[in-house]
Amino acid sequence: MENSIYLHPEWRQRGISSLLLCELINRAKALGHRTIIVGVSSEQTGSIKIHENFGFVKVGHLKGVGFKFSRWLDVVYLQLELKP
Ligand SMILES: CC(C)(COP(=O)(O)OP(=O)(O)OC[C@H]1O[C@@H](n2cnc3c(N)ncnc32)[C@H](O)[C@@H]1OP(=O)(O)O)[C@@H](O)C(=O)NCCC(=O)NCCS
Repeated sequence: MENSIYLHPEWRQRGISSLLLCELINRAKALGHRTIIVGVSSEQTGSIKIHENFGFVKVGHLKGVGFKFSRWLDVVYLQLELKP
């Protein structure tokens, strides 16, 4: 499965996304999912950090593949394996 979290700017840095991600991982395990994948702009250091906090590891870095706000961005892929 793939994960994305977007929190309203006024509610950031209060631990809300950490709570959501913890719950999401637990539900994914309970449903029998095998792995969670995240694709995020390499400039989104907050998003990379929160996923790394939960054990996600960087598995790929694609250069200049995302076009946003009139410029090309790198996309980082992170993965959490739920089953050994
Ligand atoms: C990334 C995002 C989801 C974080 O949400 P949040 O509720 O503020 O995160 P939390 O408060 O649970 O913090 C989780 C961790 O990330 C860190 N963090 C959060 N925002 C950060 C930022 N802008 N820069 C660096 N670290 C950041 C926190 O310090 C915390 O780490 P710590 O516990 O080791 O101190 C939120 O900023 C957001 O919606 N960003 C824009 C959308 C986006 O990029 N989505 C990703 C697509 S997958």
